Amino acid sequence: MGFWSKLFGTEEQEKQKEEEKTMTKSNIGIILGSTREGRVSPQVGAWVKELADKRGDANYTIIDIAEYKLPLLGEAGTDASGAAAWSEIIAKQDGFVFIVQEYNHSITGALKNALDYLRDEWNNKAAGIVSYGSVGGARATEHLRGILSELLVAHVRVHPALSLFTDFENGTDFKPAAVQADSVNQMLDQVIPWTTALNTIRK
Ligand SMILES: Cc1cc2nc3c(=O)[nH]c(=O)nc-3n(C[C@H](O)[C@H](O)[C@H](O)COP(=O)(O)O)c2cc1C
Repeated sequence: MGFWSKLFGTEEQEKQKEEEKTMTKSNIGIILGSTREGRVSPQVGAWVKELADKRGDANYTIIDIAEYKLPLLGEAGTDASGAAAWSEIIAKQDGFVFIVQEYNHSITGALKNALDYLRDEWNNKAAGIVSYGSVGGARATEHLRGILSELLVAHVRVHPALSLFTDFENGTDFKPAAVQADSVNQMLDQVIPWTTALNTIRK
C-alpha cells in the first residue's frame, strides 16, 4: 500500500470509528418546555447543549415542543402529523434533559400536554431537569418529578436551578453564574450512567 492509499485508508478507518462511536452513544433529547413568543428557553437549551457537547459522551439534540404544533390531547378535528412526529422523535431518545420554567408554581401546559401524548416512548429512560424561575423553578420541578415517575422516567437528583434574578439580566437575557455550569455537568454525570443502565432493559 502506497503512502497516499495508506493515509486514505487511515482516514476512512477514523471516519468509520467516529461513526461507530456516534451509533453506540446514547441519544439525549434536550426538551424545551415553553412555547410562548418571547420565551427564554432556547437560550437555556443552547447553553446546556454547548456544555453537554463538550463532554462528547452522548448525542445531544434540542427538541422544541413548539415545532410540533401539538393540539391539546384528544381535541377533535386537528392535524395528527405533529403528534406522529412527536412520537417518533421521543422514541429515538434514550434519555432526556428537561428545560423547565415555572408557570403558576408548576410546569407549562405545553409540556404537560406533550408528556401526556406518549407513554411507551417515555418508559424506562433517564432524565435530568434544568429549571428556572423566581426560586429556581423548584416548585415546577417537583411537579414534573411526580409526572415523570408515572411515566417510568428515572429522574436524577442533581438539579441545576437557575434564578430569574441572578442568572438572567432583566429576567430575559441569560447570563448564568459560573457555578451553574458545574451543576449541569454533575447532573449529566448522573443521567448518562442511568441512561446506559436503562438501555439494557429496553434494547
Ligand atoms: C403564565 C406565567 C406564570 C408564571 N408563574 C410563575 C411562578 O409561579 N413562579 C415563578 O417563579 N415564575 C413564574 N413566571 C415567570 C416565568 O418563570 C418566567 O417568565 C420565565 O421566563 C418563563 O419561561 P419562558 O420564558 O421560557 O416562557 C410565570 C410566567 C408566566 C408567563
